[in-house]
Amino acid sequence: MAPGEPLLEVRDLVKHFPLTRGVLFRKQIGAVKAVDGVSIDLRKGETLGVVGESGCGKSTLARLLVGLERPTSGRIHYRGEDITALSGRALTSVRRNIQMVFQDPYTSLNPRMTVGDIVGEPYEIHPEAAPKADRRRRVQELLEVVGLNPEFVNRYPHQFSGGQRQRIGIARGLALRPEIIVADEPVSALDVSVQAQVVNLLEQLQDEFDLSYVFIAHDLSVVRHISDRIAVMYLGRIAETGTDEQIYDHPTHPYTQALLSAVPVPDPEARAHRDRILLSGDVPSPADPPSGCPFRTRCWKARQRCAEVVPPLDVPPEFRESTGPAHHASACHFAEERHVVPSE
Ligand SMILES: Nc1ncnc2c1ncn2[C@@H]1O[C@H](COP(=O)(O)OP(=O)(O)O)[C@@H](O)[C@H]1O
Ligand code: SF4
Ligand SMILES: [Mg+2]
Repeated sequence: MAPGEPLLEVRDLVKHFPLTRGVLFRKQIGAVKAVDGVSIDLRKGETLGVVGESGCGKSTLARLLVGLERPTSGRIHYRGEDITALSGRALTSVRRNIQMVFQDPYTSLNPRMTVGDIVGEPYEIHPEAAPKADRRRRVQELLEVVGLNPEFVNRYPHQFSGGQRQRIGIARGLALRPEIIVADEPVSALDVSVQAQVVNLLEQLQDEFDLSYVFIAHDLSVVRHISDRIAVMYLGRIAETGTDEQIYDHPTHPYTQALLSAVPVPDPEARAHRDRILLSGDVPSPADPPSGCPFRTRCWKARQRCAEVVPPLDVPPEFRESTGPAHHASACHFAEERHVVPSE
């Protein structure tokens, strides 16, 4: 597969969780629209950052991508094949190539299993990936690859720090030599001081093992340096997507602009020139999202049209002729460029 070709093509992906009432006669009274029509591509060798506030559907999207959750509708193509249509052995074999690293290394590692059993667990599900006699050696090699002492195989998760535990989670994600890793807020639960170390490790592994990443975060500052492209999510949909330069320096969607205005700026000079945008109101419930544009209840630019027509995720008409950085997809009827953070 040539570099730049999409490995994953996600189209109109939807996951609605039914809301029910009653115990004996369970009746569906609505649905939580956790993911509500997401289309994204992941190309070979790249990192796609997915960013959005808590509750916007990031983990549900991650679980759909790795096959832990079945979509309500929509398609996920992996190397051209619709994997949402697969089941049984065909699905298991595709899943080998798409692995997940979980958000919280404190709860995602079974405290009663040794590190060796945790890292080698994927071989129980995919025994064809490694002969039994070979597994211990492979697990030790994996520990070494993620920067842990291979002699620690018999220790338990509580004997490790948060950063080390996330390294264990990453080693487990690598065990089957996947092509894609979906990392769901892999550093959010860690101290700021160790976040950069884990991000650096992921970058180094990407080169070493030719990996493509979907890297999920709740704030734009974390994904900036690791992402080639970024998708900003709001209430189950993608608000804006583009290269890191397009999103950070030339955002056209009001929600992206608001998120950027909350990113910490270390340099006091640059901070003084930052454009502050305060968002009013709360994120609406995904069980009852607003009509039209999902962001309209908090948007300072909202007009009548925003309540009536869902803005498509596309290059806005005013930027279609342009060859500049504003030429990227933004789901806003009134998209315009706004420099929020001074360029680096
Ligand atoms: N299994 C589930 N059943 C019902 N609702 C769910 C389930 N999983 C997630 N949700 C709801 O879907 C929405 C999105 O959740 P999630 O994907 O975890 O968002 P994020 O990871 O961005 O915080 C939330 O309102 C959450 O409560
Ligand atoms: S479509 Fe309207 S409400 Fe939505 S982001 Fe654009 S201006 Fe705001
Ligand atoms: Mg989450």
